[in-house]
This record gives sequence, structure tokens and C-alpha cells, in this order.
Amino acid sequence: MSSYVAAIDQGTTSTRCMIFDHSGRVVAVDQKEHRQIFPKAGWVEHDPEEVWANTREVAAGAVAKADLHVSDIAAVGITNQRETAVVWDRTTGKPVYNAIVWQDTRTDKICDELAALGGGQERYRARTGLPLATYFSGPKIRWILDNVEGARQKAEAGDLVFGNMDTWVLWNMTGGVDGGVHVTDPTNASRTLLMDLDTLAWDAGIAQDMGIPLSMLPEIRSSSEEYGKVRERGALAGVPISGILGDQQAATFGQACLSPGEAKNTYGTGNFVLLNTGTEKVLSENGLLTTVCYKIGSDATVYALEGSIAVTGSLVQWIRDNLGMISSAAEIEEHARSVEDNGGCYFVPAFSGLFAPYWRSDARGAIVGLTRFVNKGHLARAVLEATAFQTREVIDAMNADSGVPLTSLKVDGGMVVNELLMQFQSDILGVPVIRPVVAETTALGAAYAAGLAVGFWKSEDDIRQNWAKDKEWAPAMDEDRRASEYANWKKAVTKTFDWV
Ligand code: G3P
Repeated sequence: MSSYVAAIDQGTTSTRCMIFDHSGRVVAVDQKEHRQIFPKAGWVEHDPEEVWANTREVAAGAVAKADLHVSDIAAVGITNQRETAVVWDRTTGKPVYNAIVWQDTRTDKICDELAALGGGQERYRARTGLPLATYFSGPKIRWILDNVEGARQKAEAGDLVFGNMDTWVLWNMTGGVDGGVHVTDPTNASRTLLMDLDTLAWDAGIAQDMGIPLSMLPEIRSSSEEYGKVRERGALAGVPISGILGDQQAATFGQACLSPGEAKNTYGTGNFVLLNTGTEKVLSENGLLTTVCYKIGSDATVYALEGSIAVTGSLVQWIRDNLGMISSAAEIEEHARSVEDNGGCYFVPAFSGLFAPYWRSDARGAIVGLTRFVNKGHLARAVLEATAFQTREVIDAMNADSGVPLTSLKVDGGMVVNELLMQFQSDILGVPVIRPVVAETTALGAAYAAGLAVGFWKSEDDIRQNWAKDKEWAPAMDEDRRASEYANWKKAVTKTFDWV
């Protein structure tokens, strides 16, 4: 009897393999970062072949660290940075261009042109749940077909295929040019601007508007079923691959937000708040996305409202890598603790424009409120507070859309080790913030999807039972201060508009 499930988490900055036991505890993890390629201002790329090489390496690394045999592993799940688009040649297996990352804003003109066809930014909202924005995959595919020599002809001849990172990894794991399966799940497909949210099928009309041949698109299967087996030799050879969830949906699943009204916030490169709305699709009137939360086998589709924030953890990385102000991400908390407050300084990190609830690709980052009083500590605070303020904005939108104010927020992801941030988050939201014992909920969610498909976990009740609270922060800020800090933030945001 196999006692473990593995998950590949192909994220924005790194790829990880994690192995979990039946109680959902981490048994082993291996991780490798990949290069962030910035060819021009606003452009962000990854090398798909580097990512695939890292995937193989971390899979082997995790299995070795856990000291397991392949027969100990019942299934493997895949979770991934969403929207990032790869186009490759199905006969050579070679990408025709680097992966265009979700943060990349080069498609703003394409989005404007599509909006001008009628309906503006909301043109595809009713069908896809999404505004027309640079964030999503469809316009990125269009850019590749328009700009890579020969790509459009090859695509029209049926030689090129598209995938988000889930599909790229799955295709390679199941054999690549030697019979790899070309499949995605509805959580990833719902981020392309090409999938109909009701039918979970590709929308031929939108694909035509974008000039994308349907033959390029992967088959959409459920988030939990066997897609194939690991074909290559090595650590996971022969193990069924039986779960795919976009990383934010995976975290929602791993946080056991399995009933309508339950929400989580993941603090990663960006922040993503997802509220489970059950089998009902709620269209946002306040700048949120409607997205597929998960679809387990033949069960009904579960939807979510999502508040996507492009830059949170990556602002700390920027302070470290571009400014050299700190040498490790953990140092930011030390600096922030050296002062009482932000000293009047606010940092709006609109590096990829602003996502929810604004959807402004013309926005660029701003630090405002500077005086000679402001020092490194204040700036460090402003960096951390930016994450909490942006979260408050999407929670406000969620409360307005759902009509039911959130009473607490489950959190996970890298930044939740930062106690100062968690306290400030609770202060600025005015509700408790709750961290689970296993904060690696993204990989865990993918493991759950894979494990459910092979009977390793029997039902969603197993997931609920495995969830356990580690720590809770209660609001400690008085109402007046909360209101004035938030008003200052809102004012700072207005300074970022109309830069491009
Ligand atoms: O939509 C983008 C999101 O999926 C990226 O997540 O954790 O890689 O920053 P992460």
C-alpha cells in the first residue's frame, strides 16, 4: 500500500516537489528557483526548458530526501503559476518563445484592440468571468503568434500547441514528443480568457477574435482524475498523475475552503484572495474575477470570486535584489520593527499595472509621503503594509459583491511567517487572521486533488479533518486609526494612474 502523495508546484519564482502523508503533513520538499527574464520594462519571461529541467530535479530530490521507493507514492498532483503561457512545437517539443509570465504587460495594445471591437474591457466578462487585461493567457498567445517568425503559419497547420505551466509540465512528464498528453483543468483554463465558465469548453468566438486556432488548445478535463502516468525513468516513473489545480485554487482546496462563504488569502509573489461561492457563478460588480475553484471528477463545478494582487512578496524581493536594502526577505521584519509606524510613507507597487479591483495597465509604482524623517525602517513598514492594504481593497470588493462581510480570513504562503504583517493585516481588516499548521497549502491542495482521484483520500471530509489551526491574530487597532491609514493608502493609489 502506497502511503504518500507527491505534488509538483511550478510557481513564479521556483519549482517545488513536496511529499505528503495521509494526515496532510509534509514529509519532504525540494525546491529550485529559475531565472526571471526581464527583456524590457513591463516584460517578464521564463525559460520553459529550464523550468522542466528543474521539475525533474526537484521530483528526484524530494523522493530521495524522503528516502522513498516509487511504489510508496500513490499519485502525483500538479499545481502551477496560472496564466503564464508557453507555445511549443508538438513534433520537436521545443518552445517557440520563452514563457510569457502572468505579470507581463506587453499585451496592453492587444487588449485595447479587442476592447475596441465592442463592449470595452468588459467584452468577455459574462462568458469568462474576466475583464480584458494583460494578466490572462489568451492575449499572450496572440502576441507570440503575431511576433515569432513563422509561428502563425505553423499554428494554423496544427504544428504548435499552447499550455499554461500545468500543461507544459504534464505533457513532458507523460512522454513529451513520445505521446505526452495535452490536457489542462478548468481552473487553469478559466484564466485564459478563452473558456466559457458555464460549459467549461473553449469559446470558439473568443478564440476567433484573438486569432488563436482551437487546435492549439489543450483538452479540458476535471481537476481530479487520472490523466496519464509518469513516463520518464527516474523518481516518479509509472506513478499516476491525477490532479491539476492552478496554484491559488489549490491553496483554497488545501485550506479546506470547501463550503460556500469560506475564503483564503495566499501571500506569494502576489496575493490572491479566493472566496468559494459553491456551484453558483457570481459575476463581480466590484473588480473581482469569477473563476473555477475546482471540479472534482464528475462532481458539479465549484466557482470562486477572486481578488488578484500582482505584487506583494515580489516587492520584498525587489527591495532585496534591485535596491539591496536587505540581504534576505526575513530582514524586512527586523527593519520594520525598528520604528513605531510608517512615518507617513506609503508604497504602491503597481509594477504590473494594478490588478484587482482597479485593472489599470497604465498604473506604475509610487512611493509617496516622503519627508526627511522617513528612514529605512519606515520604508520597510510601507513595503509590508502595501500587502495588507491591497488585501483590504479586495476584501472590501468581496464583501460588496457577496453582501456578506467576511468574519475571518485564513492565510497561507511564504509571507505568513511575518508576525508584524499578520498583526497589521488583522488590524487593517478588523477581523481575525488565521494561519493553519500546514501553511504549504498550494502543494497540499494539488496532492489532495490527486489523492482523491486514486482513493488515497476518500472524500472532502478527510481534507476538512486534516486542517488544523496554528495561530490567530486579532485586530488591535482603533477604528479611527484604521480608517485614516486606509484613506491615506487610497489617496496614494490615485498617484499611480496614467503613467503609460
Ligand atoms: O495568477 C498568478 C498566480 O497563480 C501566481 O502565483 O504563487 O506563483 O505567485 P505565485
